[in-house]
Amino acid sequence: MHKHLPAAIFTALPAVPEPRECGPEPENFPRVNLPRAALTPYPRALARAIRAVMASAVPDRFDPGFGIYVHWPFCLSKCPYCDFNSHVRAKPVDEARYVSAFETELAHRARLTPGRVVSSVFFGGGTPSLMQPSTVAAILDAIGKHWSVSPGAEITLEANPTSVEAERFRGYRAAGVNRVSLGVQALNDADLKALGRLHTVAEAMAAVNTATSIFERASFDLIYARPNQTPQAWRAELKEALARAPEHLSLYQLTIEPETMFERLYNAGKLKMPDPDTGRDLWDVTQELTGAAAMPAYEVSNHARKGAESRHNLTYWRYGEYAGVGPGAHGRIITPKGRKAQASERHPEMWLTVVESDGNGLVEDDLLNASEQADEFLLMGLRLTEGIEPKRFEAIAGRPLSGSRISSLVADGMIEMTPQGRIRVTNEGFPVLDSVVADLAG
Ligand SMILES: C[S@@+](CC[C@H](N)C(=O)[O-])C[C@H]1O[C@@H](n2cnc3c(N)ncnc32)[C@H](O)[C@@H]1O
Ligand code: SF4
Repeated sequence: MHKHLPAAIFTALPAVPEPRECGPEPENFPRVNLPRAALTPYPRALARAIRAVMASAVPDRFDPGFGIYVHWPFCLSKCPYCDFNSHVRAKPVDEARYVSAFETELAHRARLTPGRVVSSVFFGGGTPSLMQPSTVAAILDAIGKHWSVSPGAEITLEANPTSVEAERFRGYRAAGVNRVSLGVQALNDADLKALGRLHTVAEAMAAVNTATSIFERASFDLIYARPNQTPQAWRAELKEALARAPEHLSLYQLTIEPETMFERLYNAGKLKMPDPDTGRDLWDVTQELTGAAAMPAYEVSNHARKGAESRHNLTYWRYGEYAGVGPGAHGRIITPKGRKAQASERHPEMWLTVVESDGNGLVEDDLLNASEQADEFLLMGLRLTEGIEPKRFEAIAGRPLSGSRISSLVADGMIEMTPQGRIRVTNEGFPVLDSVVADLAG
């Protein structure tokens, strides 16, 4: 075992938005019919702050963009592995009341981010495909009223692949959604059942077909390294997934999250997870097959054909700016005083009450110091195969990366320098990313 091999934990990004190089836009890239707000000029102090943080200080050739994350916190049932901010309600929720609270939060975030041009919107959950299309349309209208939206902005909605949800796809497309991300999770029915999913493989594949016929872009998620899964079984399943894949796939290794049913089963010895060597074999199979199918990883768990990367998630990983609205949503925005970390109240009904009384649901609104920002920048950027620009680290941290730490990690084969002078994690380093980041941060 390599000395950097302690904790190989591949996490699906948190419900933050669960946090990109973009090639040229596909020719038929959608134009979104959102109303456009007039460009609001930046106040002078803000313009200075943004220039300092984003321009002179950030000589990165990749544009991080400006995204908006919208969290819909409800699901039909709670999956036993999931610790996202998702809740099950016995009665239908009052969507009109949620729409008006979303409008209030959006207006609040827009006051904090004047002049930004929205490059992506992401409806995440929970299960956003439980929303009425009119709710999605109203939220997109509000975004269009408050910000200028770039032509061809990426508007993604996460969907569960049941037939009921697929029936709403046309309505989402009419509302302006142009990309769908489906939670397929497994391609065998016994495992879907064990994961607590409410759909079958046949239903999920039908939803993928419907999605690709309606939306310009689509992706689906699979969870691998499942209890008792062998590399041979995963090889067969992934081959099938690649044969059916649209332009993008998210492949997450199952993690045992705190306070989930799976954690209780695991602690009681009732869930047998793959050992570290099998985990490594499963990872190698994933890289081998996706690479051969021209869908290599562009991020630890995300694979795309060239130019089909999720631009919204690239904003997180390139440490761009994004506003988060809805219960438990996170944001990172740049204010005249510096970069702020924001988070809204997690509990849905409490969030409604706080937004209605205070005009926003924020329970966290903190300026990040240089070292916190530098850590976040490394944690996010090193997930990407494009890597990071060391000068941008220096601008954010107020100090350069340690030359001796870089040399040692290069010598160990954990990171490499690209011909453009970027630092990126190698295929050997990715399985132990957490410790590589910790070593490099110093
Ligand atoms: C917000 S959830 C998905 C949206 C949708 N509600 C669904 O389940 O289809 C985002 C993705 O995170 C992944 N995920 C959630 N919990 C996970 C865990 N414990 N380990 C690995 N992946 C996980 C799943 O693949 C899931 O599709
Ligand atoms: S449907 Fe999705 S968000 Fe809801 S509990 Fe299951 S994995 Fe989590």
